Amino acid sequence: MPHHDSPAPSPRDADWWRQAVVYQVYPRSFADSDGDGIGDIPGVTSRLPYLAGLGVDAVWLSPFYPSQLADGGYDVADYRDVDPRLGTLDDFDEMVGTARRLGLKIMVDIVPNHSSDQHVWFQEALAAPPGSAARERYVFRDGRGEDGELPPTDWPSSFGGPAWTRVPDGQWYLHLYAPQQPDFNWDNPEVREDFHDTLRFWSDRGVAGFRVDVAHGLAKDLRAPLRDLGEQRSYQPDALPADGSHPLWDRDEVHEIYRGWRRVFDAYDPPRFAVAEAWVRPSRRTAYASATGLGQAFNFDFLGARLDAAGLHTLIDTALADARRAGATSTWVLSNHDVVRHVSRYALPEDCTRQDIEAWLLADGREPAPDLSTGVRKARAAALLMLALPGSAYLYQGEELGLPEVADLDRADLRDPMWVRSGGRVKGRDGCRVPLPWTREGTSFGFGPGGSWLPQPADWGRYAADAQSGDKESFLELYREALRLRRALVADEELEWIGPRERTRRGLLHFARAGGWHTVGNLSADPVPLPRGEVLLASGPLTGDELPPWTTAWLRAGSASGR
Ligand code: GLC
Repeated sequence: MPHHDSPAPSPRDADWWRQAVVYQVYPRSFADSDGDGIGDIPGVTSRLPYLAGLGVDAVWLSPFYPSQLADGGYDVADYRDVDPRLGTLDDFDEMVGTARRLGLKIMVDIVPNHSSDQHVWFQEALAAPPGSAARERYVFRDGRGEDGELPPTDWPSSFGGPAWTRVPDGQWYLHLYAPQQPDFNWDNPEVREDFHDTLRFWSDRGVAGFRVDVAHGLAKDLRAPLRDLGEQRSYQPDALPADGSHPLWDRDEVHEIYRGWRRVFDAYDPPRFAVAEAWVRPSRRTAYASATGLGQAFNFDFLGARLDAAGLHTLIDTALADARRAGATSTWVLSNHDVVRHVSRYALPEDCTRQDIEAWLLADGREPAPDLSTGVRKARAAALLMLALPGSAYLYQGEELGLPEVADLDRADLRDPMWVRSGGRVKGRDGCRVPLPWTREGTSFGFGPGGSWLPQPADWGRYAADAQSGDKESFLELYREALRLRRALVADEELEWIGPRERTRRGLLHFARAGGWHTVGNLSADPVPLPRGEVLLASGPLTGDELPPWTTAWLRAGSASGR
């Protein structure tokens, strides 16, 4: 039974992703079927009807592969299996089958930059001598200094400390993330072939697409002598060279790898789809999103931006133009498993920088004191803006419940390698990975029949899906209604700005989509007059003919042009 008002798109529709709503599941924190405190694949299957009812098109699963969890599963020991704690391949197949019956697509996360150090290839590399074929699948080098006691270069790990670790025979191996995440050598054809096999393995099991982790990192300049980074050591996407000349990130050669992936994707009907996680200059994002490459790239600009109308106007125009240039659609993201949940971000003073947010986490969320009601108001307004934009929206599990960041996790409970590797200077990402509350009461608030691998706050039950369901004012019902309307309203990929641009300086964003679907956002602290039209949905209560501060409304205007 299709769950939608309008007919479900044909499963063969090759363009299904262009304006899809994709829901990110972080499997260990989503739903636990067996009471071991860790979410699992049968747990996901049991909640697919909820996701279908929410109205999403696809579900993207963060890694569920065998892993020692040195980086929450982004350290993969076997790319073609399910972690036994999370289930079996049969469970996976059952999940895909249930999803298909509900009209949902499944996407999986591919982690090609690095494996786990438990991967059989890395174990073979450790057992093999320097210069062996087994070592050539990774990046092993001799060290510098008299006895090779210094790392080969000054390259830093993104989680803190050097990107090199020494093995007993004296060589060093490269890991741009944790030491348990050795980087692959993508110059090696065997690595390329093996990933093609992995892509086919999941595509054959009915997976519709892939999210590609650290897509901008695979191609490295590994020619001897390796180059030190010097001034370029601190990694800022905007500061990367625009010509692809950085030794580690966003090199032009990476696209040759994805052209190979595209050939694999295009052998399927419909072709498999992929979205790149590429932290690069916006102008270089298009290459990842091209039709001969992965197809789409994450645009984290909205996520990183202040809720400022003038700034958002420019950002939206740029993103739409870039996507058009790539032949793709833009993506819109407010939260994911790597960032502080946006209700909490918006609850902090507007001028907070990323460093301030880090400091706020270290202060256990107390300083500066968050203004949660403002955070909620802004998050609801931002959601209706994002969901009205042309392109795909990526939702992170729990954002539809309005979950805040759990900023006061006990330090003893922290699992993110960032915490330990930074020597306690960066608290890390556990606060957005706390298992979901499904029921107001009960063991682990309905997450599962046992406990929860990260402790849930005592008041988690008030955010529970069952506590919100049916309550028109709730976050959950706002998302449900927005996704239902969006499905009916979305037509072409065009957006037209309404009114003079100067209005953005007063905090107003007003645009229209085909068929007379207008979105008006008031991103200011003062009310503004509400344009004429039938109100379809609003992020907060409307007062008479006014759009209150930090509120977005969807309207249907009845003009002859259809706009
Ligand atoms: C990506 C993932 C993040 C992970 C990192 C290393 O950025 O989103 O969670 O830690 O890659 O795999």
